[in-house]
Amino acid sequence: MLITPRRDNLNKIVILNPKGGCGKSTLVTNLAAKYAQSGKTPAIMDYDPQGSTTAWLERRPADLPQIHGITAFKKSMQATRSWQLRVPNETVNLLVDSPASISHDNLRELTRDATSILVPVLPSSMDIHAASRCIADLLLVAKIDRNDKKLAVVANRTRKHTKSFAKLMRFLDSLGIPIIAVMRDSQNFVHAAEEGIGVCEMQPSRVRPDVEQIEKIVQWLEAWPERRKIAKAIKARKNQSVAQRAILKRAQFGSA
Ligand SMILES: Nc1ncnc2c1ncn2[C@@H]1O[C@H](COP(=O)(O)OP(=O)(O)OP(=O)(O)O)[C@@H](O)[C@H]1O
Ligand SMILES: [Mg+2]
Repeated sequence: MLITPRRDNLNKIVILNPKGGCGKSTLVTNLAAKYAQSGKTPAIMDYDPQGSTTAWLERRPADLPQIHGITAFKKSMQATRSWQLRVPNETVNLLVDSPASISHDNLRELTRDATSILVPVLPSSMDIHAASRCIADLLLVAKIDRNDKKLAVVANRTRKHTKSFAKLMRFLDSLGIPIIAVMRDSQNFVHAAEEGIGVCEMQPSRVRPDVEQIEKIVQWLEAWPERRKIAKAIKARKNQSVAQRAILKRAQFGSA
């Protein structure tokens, strides 16, 4: 069973989709690099036994803004689990990379206290099918309330105006889940991964469309306090109208 850290002011961003190779680690590393570049002290918590993000951190050049790494997939005999998983006090944004397969218990634990959950999806029919199962598990097993507006999809290696993209859009529209960015298929992501950097740390003229999408995601992530406020207001309005209906009903019965 996984244990994840709790802290009130921690912006915990979970990237998950049990489908292998859909771009979880790519998103985690590129978002971490973007946060580090803007001085927003990120940390990466790597729950994937493959250790892809941990290896990326090891490759990271020393002259770039550093990113704290937590190898959550490793069990240490020398330290307690909570010591091993401690998040530095100065960390504002915690990016959680998840493994390709995940039990229901771990899904609940991983997403607990998350301010945002991102599901990267590739555009093939098989991937869309797997993503719909993943989203169903998030809604039904992890009990993520769609009205909380913390769940979003990132379409990865995708071209807009294709049939598969339209299919993905229709499916997510029917669930009320936003696609917040569309990342193109680009060797820039592969090169960045090899060098331990994010696309935002590459030559700007080469990577502009890629960085734009990463920035769009960060913009959505940063708006989590506003999203939470809106969700609370919607819930309060719903509760109010339920209460009003109950009062009306009582009044009708009372006057009958
Ligand atoms: N937009 C993209 N364009 C080109 N290559 C990409 C893109 N996104 C990811 N890749 C490449 O696809 C491969 C799989 O991506 P990644 O490792 O991020 O997926 P993952 O979901 O973390 O996989 P796993 O489930 O195995 O952990 C990597 O080689 C990565 O560099
Ligand atoms: Mg990965």
